[in-house]
Amino acid sequence: MRRLRTGALLALTIGALASHEALAERKVNLYRGQQVFDGLCNRCHGMEGEGNDAKNIKAPAIAGMPAWYVEDQLEKFRTGKRGKHPLDNPGMRMYPIARTLFKDEQRDDLADVSAYVEKLPKKTAPATLDGADIEKGKAKYGMCIACHGANGEGNLGMKAPALAGQSDWYLFTQLKNIKAGIRKVPMMAGVTPGLDEEAMRNLAAYLHSLPSK
Ligand code: HEC
Ligand code: HEC
Repeated sequence: MRRLRTGALLALTIGALASHEALAERKVNLYRGQQVFDGLCNRCHGMEGEGNDAKNIKAPAIAGMPAWYVEDQLEKFRTGKRGKHPLDNPGMRMYPIARTLFKDEQRDDLADVSAYVEKLPKKTAPATLDGADIEKGKAKYGMCIACHGANGEGNLGMKAPALAGQSDWYLFTQLKNIKAGIRKVPMMAGVTPGLDEEAMRNLAAYLHSLPSK
């Protein structure tokens, strides 16, 4: 009896170790990442992840975004932390897609597609916002630097994404949505109340004008 229990315990321990190792050993699969991207993402985000501002798509450029941020957002969409607000029309197009992604110890669509997206070369779309003042946007950007970096390069420690060179229409929508609580970003609760629509437009134009690296 005693021997049996030790044996069972040993088997359990080995089982736990093995599954732990499987987790640690799983390597990102770029080939599968490309399959997921080509099969699912490019129809909205563009063939090369360059984004698409067509009226009923409004999917941002994602090419070259760091994998940590892409994966983080996919997780947020998948779990309904983003993209479920009834006024979030573009978010509601992304939410059901993220729900179709599969993740377990062997297969992880989120990690694979994020790694693939990071490898795509960045592209900046033309400016679209009328009447925006880039200099005024630059002057306002001071309050954002601590999290998004002096050149809009992002900050992993803050989990704040790069904003430089992103499409102006997308940045403008996100700022409005974050301010209105349509997209929840608690970290920005201190800055958005001080921004009116004109300031958000100018900030979006300024950030779009920064070179993305
Ligand atoms: C049906 C269209 C559609 C498809 C398909 C789609 N997306 Fe999206 N995605 C969007 C839209 C629209 C947004 C913008 C949401 C918003 O405005 O908040 C978005 C946002 C995102 C964001 C957030 C970007 C940011 O800067 O925060 C990421 C990351 C993303 N998508 C990745 C993907 C990946 C990876 C795939 C494929 C697995 C994919 N998307 C498939 C429409 C789509
Ligand atoms: C205290 C830190 C902090 C400050 C200050 C801050 N942000 Fe953010 N911001 C974040 C974080 C964190 C996110 C990502 C939220 C998420 O994971 O959904 C974000 C997201 C964004 C997004 C969405 C980007 C995307 O790709 O979807 C925009 C646009 C943005 N911030 C602009 C600004 C601007 C402009 C300012 C200054 C007026 C600012 N932020 C100040 C932390 C900050």
